Amino acid sequence: MKLSKRRIVLTGGTSGIGRELALLLAADNQVVVLARETTRSMQLQAEVPDIGMEHVDLSVPEEVEAVGRRLAGGPALDGLINCAALQNTPVLASPDFDLASIRREMDINLTAVCLLCATLLPALLTRQAAFIMNINSGLGLVPKTDSAVYCATKGGLNIFTQSLRNQLADTNVRVQQVLLPLVDTPMTHGRTATKLDARDVARQILKAVEAGTEDTDVGKVRLLRILNRVAPSIAHRIMQGA
Ligand SMILES: NC(=O)c1ccc[n+]([C@@H]2O[C@H](COP(=O)([O-])OP(=O)(O)OC[C@H]3O[C@@H](n4cnc5c(N)ncnc54)[C@H](OP(=O)(O)O)[C@@H]3O)[C@@H](O)[C@H]2O)c1
Repeated sequence: MKLSKRRIVLTGGTSGIGRELALLLAADNQVVVLARETTRSMQLQAEVPDIGMEHVDLSVPEEVEAVGRRLAGGPALDGLINCAALQNTPVLASPDFDLASIRREMDINLTAVCLLCATLLPALLTRQAAFIMNINSGLGLVPKTDSAVYCATKGGLNIFTQSLRNQLADTNVRVQQVLLPLVDTPMTHGRTATKLDARDVARQILKAVEAGTEDTDVGKVRLLRILNRVAPSIAHRIMQGA
């Protein structure tokens, strides 16, 4: 699908990779960003007034369901990009571990994705061609040690994406995902390992949407997937220390 004159719903558009996606898409498409009302969302709107903004906290399923239903009942939609996520580094055995953080991380990273897919599908199914693009991580294939809940949500996202793809196989809606390695964004602030540039990654994501590729492994994730197939114990050992 050529990304031109499309109407696309995007989460995570206020920061990092999502912000780059919003800016690239807005040049020739109508973008509706689902974001909390913050300085960052106001800045984005001031910078690119053509971007539509729907205020929603993705950690609140009722809000997500309501915004999804509202958008599905509005002007025609061509695509959904689920990019928002939260990555905590919980020590679950710690006495001051915040139990509420588990649900919050899961609701943003997985429940909101499922709810948006379900509520927007009636609209997407009416188009000649439409797409759902889920932004995933190499950690959805092999986990690292210090973000157990995040890795679980990304593993879940990988399975959800494949299963929804099967459900929609005979329809006009393509269900896609991109699995990313470390990218230079606020999420990875302070990490010293080599990081990919967020704008380059956003370009690769949009290229994958246009090509209709089901699963796109970016950078080192290509190697990780192969290693996990041929020597899983080595892949897991490497990722434990990532
Ligand atoms: N960076 C990496 O190395 C990397 C690697 C693999 C995969 N990924 C994936 O790539 C995607 C983008 O990550 P990023 O690095 O660009 O992250 P980021 O810069 O931290 O941006 C996260 C985005 O999620 C939004 N968000 C978080 N909680 C929210 C909530 N409760 N309600 C609404 N929006 C919320 C943030 O909005 P606010 O402005 O309101 O905070 C922000 O727009 C994620 O799915 C991430 O898992 C990233």
